[in-house]
Amino acid sequence: MVRVITYGTYDLLHQGHINLLRRAKELGDYLIVGVTSDSFDRGRGKLNVRNNVLERVEAVKATGYADEVIIEDYLGQKIDDIQKYDVDIFAIGSDWEGKFDYLNEYCKVVYLPRTEGISSTLLREESQAVYRIGIIGSGRIARRFVPETKVVNGAQVVAVLNPNQKEADSFAQIYGIQAYTDFEQFIQNVDVVYVASPHLTHYDYVKRSLLANKHVLCEIPFALSKSEALELYKMAEERNLVLMEASKTAYCPAFNHIVTLVKSGIIGDVVDVIASLSKQVLPPTRELDRLQAGGAMNEHAPLTLMAIIKLLGIDWKDVSFHTKLENGVDIYTKGIINYPHATSSFTLGIGVKTEGNLVISGTKGYVYVPAPWWLTDFFEVRYEDQTKNKKFFYSYDGEGLRYEIQEFLSMIVNNRRSCYKLRRKESVAIAEIIEKYHNGENVSEI
Ligand code: CTP
Repeated sequence: MVRVITYGTYDLLHQGHINLLRRAKELGDYLIVGVTSDSFDRGRGKLNVRNNVLERVEAVKATGYADEVIIEDYLGQKIDDIQKYDVDIFAIGSDWEGKFDYLNEYCKVVYLPRTEGISSTLLREESQAVYRIGIIGSGRIARRFVPETKVVNGAQVVAVLNPNQKEADSFAQIYGIQAYTDFEQFIQNVDVVYVASPHLTHYDYVKRSLLANKHVLCEIPFALSKSEALELYKMAEERNLVLMEASKTAYCPAFNHIVTLVKSGIIGDVVDVIASLSKQVLPPTRELDRLQAGGAMNEHAPLTLMAIIKLLGIDWKDVSFHTKLENGVDIYTKGIINYPHATSSFTLGIGVKTEGNLVISGTKGYVYVPAPWWLTDFFEVRYEDQTKNKKFFYSYDGEGLRYEIQEFLSMIVNNRRSCYKLRRKESVAIAEIIEKYHNGENVSEI
Protein backbone atom coordinates (compact mmCIF):
# COMPACT_ATOMS: atom_id res chain seq x y z
CA MET A 1 0.00 0.00 0.00
CA VAL A 2 1.38 3.38 -1.03
CA ARG A 3 0.99 5.97 1.72
CA VAL A 4 0.88 9.65 0.77
CA ILE A 5 1.05 12.69 3.08
CA THR A 6 0.32 16.34 2.38
CA TYR A 7 0.04 19.47 4.52
CA GLY A 8 -1.72 22.82 4.48
CA THR A 9 -3.80 25.35 6.34
CA TYR A 10 -6.90 24.77 4.18
CA ASP A 11 -8.53 28.01 5.24
CA LEU A 12 -11.82 28.81 3.46
CA LEU A 13 -11.47 25.54 1.58
CA HIS A 14 -11.52 26.18 -2.17
CA GLN A 15 -11.24 24.36 -5.52
CA GLY A 16 -7.42 24.64 -5.46
CA HIS A 17 -7.36 22.62 -2.23
CA ILE A 18 -9.82 20.07 -3.59
CA ASN A 19 -7.78 19.56 -6.78
CA LEU A 20 -4.60 19.22 -4.76
CA LEU A 21 -6.12 16.64 -2.41
CA ARG A 22 -7.53 14.66 -5.35
CA ARG A 23 -4.14 14.61 -7.10
CA ALA A 24 -2.38 13.64 -3.88
CA LYS A 25 -4.81 10.78 -3.29
CA GLU A 26 -4.29 9.57 -6.88
CA LEU A 27 -0.57 9.14 -6.12
CA GLY A 28 -1.24 6.21 -3.78
CA ASP A 29 -3.74 4.21 -1.77
CA TYR A 30 -3.90 6.02 1.55
CA LEU A 31 -3.85 9.80 2.04
CA ILE A 32 -2.86 11.51 5.29
CA VAL A 33 -3.59 15.24 5.45
CA GLY A 34 -1.76 17.42 7.98
CA VAL A 35 -3.78 20.49 8.92
CA THR A 36 -1.90 23.28 10.71
CA SER A 37 -2.98 24.15 14.25
CA ASP A 38 -4.09 27.71 15.00
CA SER A 39 -1.10 28.36 17.26
CA PHE A 40 1.36 26.95 14.70
CA ASP A 41 -0.02 29.31 12.05
CA ARG A 42 0.07 32.28 14.38
CA GLY A 43 3.60 31.37 15.40
CA ARG A 44 4.77 31.39 11.78
CA GLY A 45 3.18 34.77 11.13
CA LYS A 46 0.00 33.58 9.40
CA LEU A 47 -2.32 35.85 11.32
CA ASN A 48 -5.31 36.14 9.05
CA VAL A 49 -6.62 32.60 9.00
CA ARG A 50 -10.43 32.77 9.21
CA ASN A 51 -11.48 29.22 10.04
CA ASN A 52 -10.30 27.65 13.24
CA VAL A 53 -8.54 24.32 13.19
CA LEU A 54 -11.72 22.31 13.86
CA GLU A 55 -13.53 23.96 10.97
CA ARG A 56 -10.55 23.41 8.67
CA VAL A 57 -10.28 19.74 9.63
CA GLU A 58 -14.01 19.28 8.98
CA ALA A 59 -13.69 20.93 5.58
CA VAL A 60 -10.79 18.64 4.59
CA LYS A 61 -12.73 15.57 5.76
CA ALA A 62 -15.77 16.68 3.77
CA THR A 63 -13.79 16.48 0.51
CA GLY A 64 -13.76 12.72 0.97
CA TYR A 65 -10.12 12.39 -0.15
CA ALA A 66 -8.43 12.16 3.26
CA ASP A 67 -8.14 8.73 4.85
CA GLU A 68 -6.65 10.30 7.96
CA VAL A 69 -6.31 13.87 9.19
CA ILE A 70 -3.54 14.89 11.59
CA ILE A 71 -2.62 18.25 13.12
CA GLU A 72 0.67 19.94 12.26
CA ASP A 73 1.82 21.77 15.34
CA TYR A 74 5.57 22.31 15.20
CA LEU A 75 8.47 23.00 12.91
CA GLY A 76 10.22 19.80 11.86
CA GLN A 77 7.11 17.69 12.43
CA LYS A 78 7.00 16.56 8.80
CA ILE A 79 10.13 14.46 9.28
CA ASP A 80 8.63 12.87 12.38
CA ASP A 81 5.32 12.18 10.65
CA ILE A 82 6.88 10.62 7.55
CA GLN A 83 8.73 8.14 9.71
CA LYS A 84 5.94 7.62 12.22
CA TYR A 85 3.24 6.96 9.57
CA ASP A 86 5.58 5.04 7.28
CA VAL A 87 4.95 7.44 4.42
CA ASP A 88 6.09 6.70 0.84
CA ILE A 89 5.27 10.00 -0.85
CA PHE A 90 5.23 13.57 0.42
CA ALA A 91 3.07 15.71 -1.91
CA ILE A 92 2.61 19.48 -1.94
CA GLY A 93 1.57 22.19 -4.39
CA SER A 94 4.05 23.52 -6.93
CA ASP A 95 4.15 26.92 -5.16
CA TRP A 96 6.54 25.09 -2.79
CA GLU A 97 8.79 23.76 -5.63
CA GLY A 98 12.21 22.90 -4.21
CA LYS A 99 11.35 23.91 -0.63
CA PHE A 100 10.83 20.36 0.59
CA ASP A 101 13.64 18.60 -1.25
CA TYR A 102 15.24 17.92 2.12
CA LEU A 103 12.48 15.35 2.75
CA ASN A 104 13.88 13.20 -0.10
CA GLU A 105 16.06 11.62 2.56
CA TYR A 106 12.94 10.08 4.11
CA CYS A 107 10.51 9.50 1.20
CA LYS A 108 9.72 10.54 -2.36
CA VAL A 109 8.84 14.23 -2.74
CA VAL A 110 6.27 15.19 -5.40
CA TYR A 111 5.32 18.76 -6.31
CA LEU A 112 1.80 18.78 -7.75
CA PRO A 113 0.45 21.42 -10.16
CA ARG A 114 -1.16 24.30 -8.33
CA THR A 115 -4.56 25.55 -9.46
CA GLU A 116 -4.14 29.01 -10.89
CA GLY A 117 -6.19 32.02 -9.88
CA ILE A 118 -7.41 30.93 -6.47
CA SER A 119 -5.99 30.95 -2.95
CA SER A 120 -7.18 31.44 0.62
CA THR A 121 -5.40 34.79 0.64
CA LEU A 122 -7.43 35.95 -2.38
CA LEU A 123 -10.69 34.75 -0.85
CA ARG A 124 -9.89 36.49 2.43
CA GLU A 125 -9.10 39.71 0.60
CA GLU A 126 -12.28 39.56 -1.48
CA SER A 127 -14.54 39.09 1.50
CA GLN A 128 -12.70 41.43 3.83
CA ALA A 129 -13.94 44.95 4.44
CA VAL A 130 -11.09 47.41 4.19
CA TYR A 131 -10.65 49.80 7.10
CA ARG A 132 -9.15 53.16 6.25
CA ILE A 133 -6.76 53.90 9.06
CA GLY A 134 -5.81 57.44 10.00
CA ILE A 135 -2.70 57.95 12.10
CA ILE A 136 -2.48 60.82 14.52
CA GLY A 137 1.17 61.72 14.96
CA SER A 138 4.10 61.01 12.69
CA GLY A 139 6.92 60.05 15.03
CA ARG A 140 9.01 56.87 15.36
CA ILE A 141 6.23 54.50 16.34
CA ALA A 142 3.97 55.77 13.55
CA ARG A 143 6.76 54.99 11.07
CA ARG A 144 7.03 51.46 12.38
CA PHE A 145 3.26 51.06 12.29
CA VAL A 146 2.64 51.63 8.58
CA PRO A 147 4.69 48.67 7.22
CA GLU A 148 3.06 46.41 9.83
CA THR A 149 -0.42 47.18 8.49
CA LYS A 150 0.62 45.71 5.12
CA VAL A 151 0.55 42.18 6.51
CA VAL A 152 -2.89 42.50 8.10
CA ASN A 153 -5.91 41.91 5.84
CA GLY A 154 -8.32 44.80 5.80
CA ALA A 155 -5.85 47.36 7.15
CA GLN A 156 -5.03 50.30 4.94
CA VAL A 157 -3.37 53.46 6.19
CA VAL A 158 -4.79 56.39 4.24
CA ALA A 159 -4.09 59.52 6.26
CA VAL A 160 -1.86 61.19 8.81
CA LEU A 161 -2.66 64.10 11.08
CA ASN A 162 0.02 66.42 12.41
CA PRO A 163 -0.63 70.09 13.15
CA ASN A 164 2.83 70.78 11.75
CA GLN A 165 2.29 70.92 7.97
CA LYS A 166 5.89 70.11 7.09
CA GLU A 167 6.00 67.01 9.28
CA ALA A 168 2.60 65.83 8.06
CA ASP A 169 3.64 66.27 4.42
CA SER A 170 6.95 64.52 4.80
CA PHE A 171 5.34 61.49 6.50
CA ALA A 172 2.52 61.38 3.95
CA GLN A 173 4.97 61.48 1.08
CA ILE A 174 7.01 58.53 2.37
CA TYR A 175 3.94 56.32 2.66
CA GLY A 176 1.85 57.68 -0.22
CA ILE A 177 -1.01 58.79 2.03
CA GLN A 178 -2.97 61.99 2.62
CA ALA A 179 -1.61 64.65 5.03
CA TYR A 180 -3.91 66.68 7.28
CA THR A 181 -3.25 69.43 9.79
CA ASP A 182 -6.90 69.85 10.70
CA PHE A 183 -8.57 67.21 12.87
CA GLU A 184 -12.08 67.72 11.47
CA GLN A 185 -10.97 67.19 7.89
CA PHE A 186 -8.80 64.23 8.85
CA ILE A 187 -11.49 62.41 10.79
CA GLN A 188 -14.02 62.63 7.96
CA ASN A 189 -11.74 60.65 5.70
CA VAL A 190 -10.89 57.69 7.92
CA ASP A 191 -12.78 54.74 9.42
CA VAL A 192 -10.52 54.01 12.37
CA VAL A 193 -7.85 55.96 14.22
CA TYR A 194 -4.41 55.05 15.54
CA VAL A 195 -3.30 57.59 18.13
CA ALA A 196 0.50 57.82 18.12
CA SER A 197 0.86 61.47 19.06
CA PRO A 198 2.83 62.90 22.03
CA HIS A 199 1.71 61.40 25.38
CA LEU A 200 -0.11 64.46 26.67
CA THR A 201 -2.34 64.65 23.62
CA HIS A 202 -3.62 61.04 23.80
CA TYR A 203 -6.63 61.78 25.97
CA ASP A 204 -7.88 64.62 23.81
CA TYR A 205 -7.39 62.84 20.50
CA VAL A 206 -8.99 59.62 21.73
CA LYS A 207 -11.97 61.55 23.02
CA ARG A 208 -12.44 63.55 19.83
CA SER A 209 -12.12 60.43 17.70
CA LEU A 210 -14.71 58.58 19.78
CA LEU A 211 -17.03 61.57 19.59
CA ALA A 212 -16.67 61.31 15.81
CA ASN A 213 -17.75 57.63 16.15
CA LYS A 214 -14.42 56.13 15.14
CA HIS A 215 -12.82 53.02 16.61
CA VAL A 216 -9.51 53.88 18.30
CA LEU A 217 -6.22 52.12 18.87
CA CYS A 218 -4.17 54.25 21.25
CA GLU A 219 -0.43 54.02 21.83
CA ILE A 220 1.03 53.63 25.30
CA PRO A 221 0.77 55.29 27.72
CA PHE A 222 -2.92 55.07 26.91
CA ALA A 223 -3.88 57.27 29.85
CA LEU A 224 -2.01 58.90 32.71
CA SER A 225 -4.85 58.66 35.21
CA LYS A 226 -7.52 56.18 36.21
CA SER A 227 -10.34 58.65 35.74
CA GLU A 228 -9.26 59.47 32.18
CA ALA A 229 -9.01 55.80 31.29
CA LEU A 230 -12.43 55.04 32.81
CA GLU A 231 -14.04 58.00 31.09
CA LEU A 232 -12.68 57.01 27.67
CA TYR A 233 -13.66 53.34 27.96
CA LYS A 234 -17.14 54.34 29.13
CA MET A 235 -17.49 56.67 26.19
CA ALA A 236 -16.40 53.92 23.77
CA GLU A 237 -18.84 51.47 25.32
CA GLU A 238 -21.76 53.86 25.11
CA ARG A 239 -21.06 54.38 21.43
CA ASN A 240 -20.36 50.69 20.76
CA LEU A 241 -16.84 51.49 19.57
CA VAL A 242 -13.61 49.58 20.01
CA LEU A 243 -11.05 51.38 22.13
CA MET A 244 -7.85 49.44 22.53
CA GLU A 245 -4.57 50.16 24.28
CA ALA A 246 -1.70 49.43 21.89
CA SER A 247 0.21 47.31 24.37
CA LYS A 248 2.04 45.36 21.65
CA THR A 249 3.45 42.60 23.87
CA ALA A 250 0.01 41.74 25.24
CA TYR A 251 -1.08 40.58 21.78
CA CYS A 252 1.98 38.64 20.67
CA PRO A 253 1.70 34.82 20.51
CA ALA A 254 4.66 33.97 22.77
CA PHE A 255 3.61 36.29 25.58
CA ASN A 256 0.07 34.92 25.40
CA HIS A 257 1.44 31.43 25.73
CA ILE A 258 3.42 32.40 28.84
CA VAL A 259 0.26 33.70 30.48
CA THR A 260 -1.80 30.60 29.64
CA LEU A 261 0.98 28.23 30.74
CA VAL A 262 1.46 30.04 34.05
CA LYS A 263 -2.29 30.20 34.67
CA SER A 264 -2.55 26.48 34.02
CA GLY A 265 -0.21 25.87 36.95
CA ILE A 266 2.96 24.80 35.15
CA ILE A 267 5.12 26.55 37.79
CA GLY A 268 2.69 26.07 40.68
CA ASP A 269 1.39 29.16 42.52
CA VAL A 270 2.96 32.38 41.32
CA VAL A 271 4.77 34.08 44.18
CA ASP A 272 6.86 36.73 42.44
CA VAL A 273 7.03 38.55 39.10
CA ILE A 274 10.04 40.68 38.21
CA ALA A 275 9.90 42.71 35.00
CA SER A 276 12.53 45.16 33.80
CA LEU A 277 12.69 47.42 30.79
CA SER A 278 15.40 49.93 30.05
CA LYS A 279 16.25 51.85 26.91
CA GLN A 280 18.90 54.50 27.34
CA VAL A 281 18.22 57.74 25.50
CA LEU A 282 20.34 60.81 24.86
CA PRO A 283 19.19 64.42 24.96
CA PRO A 284 17.55 66.19 23.28
CA THR A 285 14.61 63.83 23.14
CA ARG A 286 11.01 63.96 24.34
CA GLU A 287 11.67 61.05 26.70
CA LEU A 288 13.83 63.39 28.81
CA ASP A 289 11.45 66.34 28.57
CA ARG A 290 9.29 66.94 31.63
CA LEU A 291 6.91 69.17 29.68
CA GLN A 292 6.23 66.35 27.21
CA ALA A 293 5.50 63.84 30.00
CA GLY A 294 8.83 62.12 29.51
CA GLY A 295 10.37 59.79 32.06
CA ALA A 296 10.88 56.07 32.57
CA MET A 297 7.45 55.57 34.18
CA ASN A 298 5.47 57.04 31.31
CA GLU A 299 7.64 55.36 28.69
CA HIS A 300 8.02 51.87 30.05
CA ALA A 301 5.55 51.24 32.88
CA PRO A 302 2.67 50.40 30.51
CA LEU A 303 4.34 47.23 29.16
CA THR A 304 5.88 46.07 32.43
CA LEU A 305 2.70 46.70 34.41
CA MET A 306 0.76 44.87 31.72
CA ALA A 307 2.93 41.78 32.31
CA ILE A 308 2.55 41.94 36.10
CA ILE A 309 -1.20 42.53 35.93
CA LYS A 310 -1.76 39.77 33.36
CA LEU A 311 0.02 37.36 35.68
CA LEU A 312 -1.11 38.53 39.12
CA GLY A 313 -4.30 40.48 38.49
CA ILE A 314 -5.59 43.85 39.57
CA ASP A 315 -6.28 43.19 43.26
CA TRP A 316 -3.01 44.40 44.69
CA LYS A 317 -2.58 45.47 48.34
CA ASP A 318 -0.02 48.23 48.05
CA VAL A 319 2.30 49.91 45.58
CA SER A 320 5.54 51.81 46.28
CA PHE A 321 8.17 53.44 44.10
CA HIS A 322 11.87 54.35 44.30
CA THR A 323 12.88 56.87 41.73
CA LYS A 324 15.91 58.77 40.46
CA LEU A 325 15.08 62.16 38.94
CA GLU A 326 17.07 64.36 36.59
CA ASN A 327 15.66 67.72 35.48
CA GLY A 328 12.26 66.74 36.80
CA VAL A 329 12.15 63.50 34.83
CA ASP A 330 12.59 60.00 36.27
CA ILE A 331 15.53 58.39 34.53
CA TYR A 332 15.07 55.29 36.68
CA THR A 333 12.13 53.98 38.66
CA LYS A 334 11.71 50.80 40.59
CA GLY A 335 8.26 49.86 41.75
CA ILE A 336 7.01 47.19 44.11
CA ILE A 337 3.47 45.90 43.94
CA ASN A 338 2.35 43.58 46.71
CA TYR A 339 -0.58 41.22 46.42
CA PRO A 340 -2.17 39.14 49.20
CA HIS A 341 -0.36 36.00 48.00
CA ALA A 342 2.46 37.34 45.84
CA THR A 343 4.81 40.19 45.28
CA SER A 344 6.14 41.82 42.14
CA SER A 345 8.56 44.50 41.07
CA PHE A 346 9.40 46.45 37.96
CA THR A 347 12.55 48.30 37.05
CA LEU A 348 12.43 50.96 34.38
CA GLY A 349 15.26 53.04 32.94
CA ILE A 350 15.82 55.67 30.31
CA GLY A 351 19.01 57.07 31.87
CA VAL A 352 20.05 53.89 33.66
CA LYS A 353 20.71 50.55 32.03
CA THR A 354 19.39 47.33 33.54
CA GLU A 355 18.93 43.79 32.31
CA GLY A 356 15.54 43.73 30.57
CA ASN A 357 14.22 40.35 31.50
CA LEU A 358 11.05 38.91 32.97
CA VAL A 359 11.13 36.27 35.70
CA ILE A 360 7.97 34.63 37.02
CA SER A 361 8.63 32.57 40.14
CA GLY A 362 6.30 29.90 41.38
CA THR A 363 6.14 27.18 44.01
CA LYS A 364 7.15 24.47 41.49
CA GLY A 365 9.46 26.33 39.11
CA TYR A 366 9.92 29.58 37.24
CA VAL A 367 9.58 31.09 33.79
CA TYR A 368 12.58 32.97 32.46
CA VAL A 369 12.16 35.37 29.54
CA PRO A 370 15.48 36.94 28.53
CA ALA A 371 15.90 40.54 27.42
CA PRO A 372 14.19 42.01 25.54
CA TRP A 373 11.25 40.14 27.09
CA TRP A 374 8.76 42.61 25.58
CA LEU A 375 9.66 41.41 22.08
CA THR A 376 8.87 37.90 23.19
CA ASP A 377 10.14 35.14 20.91
CA PHE A 378 11.64 32.75 23.43
CA PHE A 379 11.13 31.66 27.02
CA GLU A 380 12.11 28.79 29.23
CA VAL A 381 10.26 27.01 32.01
CA ARG A 382 12.80 25.93 34.61
CA TYR A 383 12.69 23.56 37.56
CA GLU A 384 14.94 22.40 40.36
CA ASP A 385 15.32 19.21 38.37
CA GLN A 386 16.87 20.69 35.24
CA THR A 387 16.03 17.67 33.12
CA LYS A 388 12.40 18.88 33.25
CA ASN A 389 13.25 22.32 31.85
CA LYS A 390 11.45 23.23 28.65
CA LYS A 391 12.33 25.87 26.08
CA PHE A 392 9.69 27.55 23.90
CA PHE A 393 10.59 29.25 20.62
CA TYR A 394 8.36 31.59 18.68
CA SER A 395 8.79 34.11 15.93
CA TYR A 396 8.17 37.74 16.76
CA ASP A 397 7.62 39.06 13.27
CA GLY A 398 8.59 42.49 12.06
CA GLU A 399 8.10 45.18 14.64
CA GLY A 400 5.49 43.07 16.38
CA LEU A 401 2.74 45.65 15.89
CA ARG A 402 0.89 43.39 13.46
CA TYR A 403 -0.53 41.36 16.34
CA GLU A 404 -2.26 44.32 17.94
CA ILE A 405 -3.47 45.63 14.56
CA GLN A 406 -4.89 42.20 13.72
CA GLU A 407 -6.64 42.02 17.11
CA PHE A 408 -7.99 45.56 16.76
CA LEU A 409 -9.58 44.86 13.37
CA SER A 410 -10.81 41.46 14.50
CA MET A 411 -12.61 43.13 17.44
CA ILE A 412 -14.30 45.54 15.03
CA VAL A 413 -15.27 42.85 12.50
CA ASN A 414 -16.56 40.44 15.13
CA ASN A 415 -18.29 43.10 17.19
CA ARG A 416 -16.17 42.36 20.27
CA ARG A 417 -15.59 45.31 22.55
CA SER A 418 -13.33 43.64 25.09
CA CYS A 419 -10.31 41.44 24.50
CA TYR A 420 -9.05 38.85 26.96
CA LYS A 421 -5.45 39.59 25.98
CA LEU A 422 -5.76 42.96 27.71
CA ARG A 423 -9.03 43.64 29.44
CA ARG A 424 -10.27 47.21 29.81
CA LYS A 425 -10.13 46.92 33.60
CA GLU A 426 -6.49 45.81 33.32
CA SER A 427 -5.74 48.82 31.15
CA VAL A 428 -7.44 51.07 33.73
CA ALA A 429 -5.34 49.46 36.47
CA ILE A 430 -2.16 50.30 34.55
CA ALA A 431 -3.23 53.95 34.33
CA GLU A 432 -4.05 53.93 38.04
CA ILE A 433 -0.55 52.81 39.05
CA ILE A 434 1.08 55.37 36.77
CA GLU A 435 -1.15 58.01 38.35
CA LYS A 436 -0.14 56.93 41.87
CA TYR A 437 3.46 57.54 40.92
CA HIS A 438 2.71 61.00 39.54
CA ASN A 439 0.69 61.84 42.66
CA GLY A 440 3.74 60.98 44.77
CA GLU A 441 1.97 58.16 46.64
CA ASN A 442 4.65 56.03 48.34
CA VAL A 443 7.37 57.50 46.15
CA SER A 444 10.86 57.88 47.57
CA GLU A 445 13.66 59.62 45.73
CA ILE A 446 17.09 58.05 45.52
N1 CTP B 1 -2.91 24.79 -3.32
C1 CTP B 1 -3.07 24.53 -4.68
N2 CTP B 1 -3.68 25.47 -5.47
C2 CTP B 1 -4.09 26.65 -4.96
C3 CTP B 1 -3.94 26.92 -3.57
C4 CTP B 1 -3.33 25.96 -2.78
O1 CTP B 1 -2.70 23.49 -5.18
N3 CTP B 1 -4.64 27.54 -5.76
C5 CTP B 1 -2.24 23.79 -2.49
C6 CTP B 1 -0.97 24.28 -1.83
O2 CTP B 1 0.11 24.22 -2.74
C7 CTP B 1 -0.83 23.30 -0.69
C8 CTP B 1 -2.29 23.04 -0.29
O3 CTP B 1 -3.08 23.46 -1.40
O4 CTP B 1 -0.27 22.10 -1.16
C9 CTP B 1 -2.67 23.77 0.95
O5 CTP B 1 -2.32 25.12 0.79
P1 CTP B 1 -2.72 26.34 1.71
O6 CTP B 1 -1.52 27.09 2.06
O7 CTP B 1 -3.61 25.89 2.77
O8 CTP B 1 -3.63 27.17 0.64
P2 CTP B 1 -3.49 28.61 0.01
O9 CTP B 1 -4.77 28.90 -0.70
O10 CTP B 1 -2.25 28.72 -0.83
O11 CTP B 1 -3.40 29.51 1.31
P3 CTP B 1 -2.75 30.95 1.56
O12 CTP B 1 -3.29 31.85 0.48
O13 CTP B 1 -3.22 31.30 2.94
O14 CTP B 1 -1.26 30.76 1.47
